[in-house]
Amino acid sequence: MGACWSNRIKSVSSSNTGFTSRSVSRNGYDTSSNSRNSSASVPATPRSEGEILQSSNLKSFSFSNVRAATRNFRPDSVLGEGGFGSVFKGWIDEQSLAATKPGIGMIVAVKRLNQDGFQGHKEWLAEINYLGQLQHPNLVKLIGFCFEDEHRLLVYEFMPKGSVENHLFRRGSFFQPLSWSLRLQIALGAARGLAFLHSTEPKVIYRDFKTSNILLDTKYNAKLSDFGLARDGPTGDKSYVSTRVMGTHGYAAPEYLATGHLTAKSDVYSFGVVLLEMISGRRAIDKNQPSGEHNLVEWAKPYLSNKRRVFRIMDPRLEGQYSHNRAQLAATLSMQCLAVEPKCRPNMDEVVKALEQLQDSKDTQKKRADQKQRRVPNSGFGPSNGNPTSGKGSADALRKASAYPRPSTSLLRG
Ligand SMILES: Nc1ncnc2c1ncn2[C@@H]1O[C@H](COP(=O)(O)OP(=O)(O)OP(=O)(O)O)[C@@H](O)[C@H]1O
Ligand SMILES: [Mg+2]
Repeated sequence: MGACWSNRIKSVSSSNTGFTSRSVSRNGYDTSSNSRNSSASVPATPRSEGEILQSSNLKSFSFSNVRAATRNFRPDSVLGEGGFGSVFKGWIDEQSLAATKPGIGMIVAVKRLNQDGFQGHKEWLAEINYLGQLQHPNLVKLIGFCFEDEHRLLVYEFMPKGSVENHLFRRGSFFQPLSWSLRLQIALGAARGLAFLHSTEPKVIYRDFKTSNILLDTKYNAKLSDFGLARDGPTGDKSYVSTRVMGTHGYAAPEYLATGHLTAKSDVYSFGVVLLEMISGRRAIDKNQPSGEHNLVEWAKPYLSNKRRVFRIMDPRLEGQYSHNRAQLAATLSMQCLAVEPKCRPNMDEVVKALEQLQDSKDTQKKRADQKQRRVPNSGFGPSNGNPTSGKGSADALRKASAYPRPSTSLLRG
């Protein structure tokens, strides 16, 4: 392993991720601890459907309640679409969680399972299983679910800035390019989310880490969503779990694609791809790039280790907001995560530490860029003023943007 990566990464303690670890007990009391070493425990799976639904600390919504909250799933309240179905903006009362009028109470995101879609009941249940038990500042909060007749819905906290995918890859005045410092902040938040999942007993392997599954709050704090493909990691003397090869093209680790053997290091590889997307501003798979550059990892790898050539892969929209040294460090970290040999990849605690060191900068240039970004009114996703009518433009903008070719979760190998 010593030959795999630099001493800088190797020197990091494996148990210290420097974040608050929280878990919620079954009776609903917050059993938060602020211990650096604390870890949550997930009851051994598989649990039955009844057990999952009953033991979760989530609200069971009636279909009429979610329908009212989204005003009958109004098309102009669509926040986005994925393999599971459409995601709608809705309003509920903070105390009773009953549907309210737009502008009153709290905003929620309601994900509705599309009956013809690729993802289904199993993924819906996995989401409830994991997000019903795990809470952390870098995981999106699942408020409840609806399970009535053929209806399967999930009700989440609303993430006002939407997905990292939108900010990185969608063009137009609606989405300003993310500054270098915000990219680092987002990468760090997402890394903490993964590190937390890998710290539970048994580990939770996320399996679908990608930019569309990283959501942003008003302050650009990153939270992981979409636990439909998450799996418990290996237990006992096993070193991997065997699964059907599921995920999203461009993000899955090569050994997982080849064998179906899943480990926490598969998530680390996907993190490396996302970090590279953030550095380069390019999609993991992009057929619009010149030939030979469709696959981001293959194209970028030769540049990542070369100090003088690393600028060839940097996102031109970053316009020199980073120092040479920091660009090189970020590129090196992504290269380490993308190591072909899983044991040569750092673990997520080490990634968190490396990103903390990277972020710890007195570079005033990047602070200025950051402030400029925060001044752009409503530059993110959807109306921030809570006025539903002002959301129409954003929903339209998103629908137009959805035409952009984008990867989706699927079976990667039969
Ligand atoms: N809690 C939320 N708050 C705000 N927007 C959300 C929320 N959850 C999802 N969205 C928006 O809806 C979009 C669709 O989400 P969804 O997770 O269903 O699909 P996806 O991640 O884009 O694709 P895939 O199905 O391949 O994972 C997201 O990209 C995001 O823009
Ligand atoms: Mg998603």
